[in-house]
Amino acid sequence: MAIISSKQPSEPSKPAKKQQKKPQPQPVIEDLLQPQATVEEQGKQEQSLRPHTFADYIGQKDLKEVLSIAIQAAKARGETLDHLLLYGPPGLGKTTMALILAGEMGVDCKITSAPALERPRDIMGLLVSLKPGDILFIDEIHRLSRMAEEILYPAMEDYRLDITIGKGASAKTRSITLPKYTLVGATTRAGALSSPLRDRFGSVQRLRFYEPEELRKIVLRTAELLQTPISDDGALELAKRSRGTPRIANRLLKRVRDYAEVKAAGTITQNVAATALELYQVDPCGLDWTDRKMLSVTIEQFNGGPVGIETLAAATGEDIQTIEEVYEPYLMQIGYLQRTPRGRVATPAAYKHLGLKLPNEQLSLLSRSDL
Ligand SMILES: Nc1ncnc2c1ncn2[C@@H]1O[C@H](COP(=O)(O)OP(=O)(O)OP(=O)(O)O)[C@@H](O)[C@H]1O
Ligand SMILES: [Mg+2]
Repeated sequence: MAIISSKQPSEPSKPAKKQQKKPQPQPVIEDLLQPQATVEEQGKQEQSLRPHTFADYIGQKDLKEVLSIAIQAAKARGETLDHLLLYGPPGLGKTTMALILAGEMGVDCKITSAPALERPRDIMGLLVSLKPGDILFIDEIHRLSRMAEEILYPAMEDYRLDITIGKGASAKTRSITLPKYTLVGATTRAGALSSPLRDRFGSVQRLRFYEPEELRKIVLRTAELLQTPISDDGALELAKRSRGTPRIANRLLKRVRDYAEVKAAGTITQNVAATALELYQVDPCGLDWTDRKMLSVTIEQFNGGPVGIETLAAATGEDIQTIEEVYEPYLMQIGYLQRTPRGRVATPAAYKHLGLKLPNEQLSLLSRSDL
């Protein structure tokens, strides 16, 4: 089952590719649809938009149910929660959920990120500062260094911190008992976690993309906090273009609010939202330039696929990891792209979205089960 690599013979040589290239509309505001937080969004205002209770946390019904049962059970037994790993694409509410858990358990939450725990003493310092019941939240946990991971193993399993004092033959190991605490890890790449680390989480939960209806409620809630007048259909229009991601929904809302205040009467109606987002080149399904480029390359240069991920990465100028973590999950979620052992295949819905005609042989390819 070979994945087609960028060296496959069917790939046109560079000059030919240049001639074939169709002019693509360049993005006006490049980062509008990026799910990662911007610097501004890591600041105070974003914090004020975060829901603080389960009741305010919209969507993720199954996850909320599982976690609220765990909370009730832990509280009834007077115990801490099991260590929890939350995974899913950026901007879906992992950090928010960790903070809500702390709130619901009535404990403090210490927040850190794996790249900040480079030296052993960074993670040791954090562990010894924990109070009984506290939540330690480690973001991007797949990026922990080997050393930090090894410190975490006994700290997660036996609430024990092993410290080595001295060097060489005279080195001694001392153990410190830690209070019972809960580690909440977040990652966009569960597969990149080492298995000993993953196995030490009592519960591993995935966050999924939000439905437009759930995002509509999130937009309405944020609009109320920002005191922005918005109609129900205006909120739905934003929701549909937000790539299933609350962070993007909130960002689009802020941009459209500017537009509504300057160009319209201030209220975000469906018409105002659609016109503003057209101006910002956010397409009706929330696809951005790279998504469209991925689809059009697959369709126009590779007859709809299958095409290897390396080839797509080269053609779009994105790295493979970003395609796998950010672009592909959403395109697959909305049914525009299929992942097969031989590569990526564009679906009839993708042809339709780009206004292209589906060739007959592609239909039979899609129905073949050996792909
Ligand atoms: N279920 C939800 N209901 C309402 N708002 C939400 C929800 N989930 C997320 N948000 C909003 O989206 C923003 C981004 O969420 P959050 O920072 O928790 O995402 P994340 O999964 O931690 O992202 P990253 O992977 O980039 O760390 C939050 O500031 C919050 O306002
Ligand atoms: Mg986060």
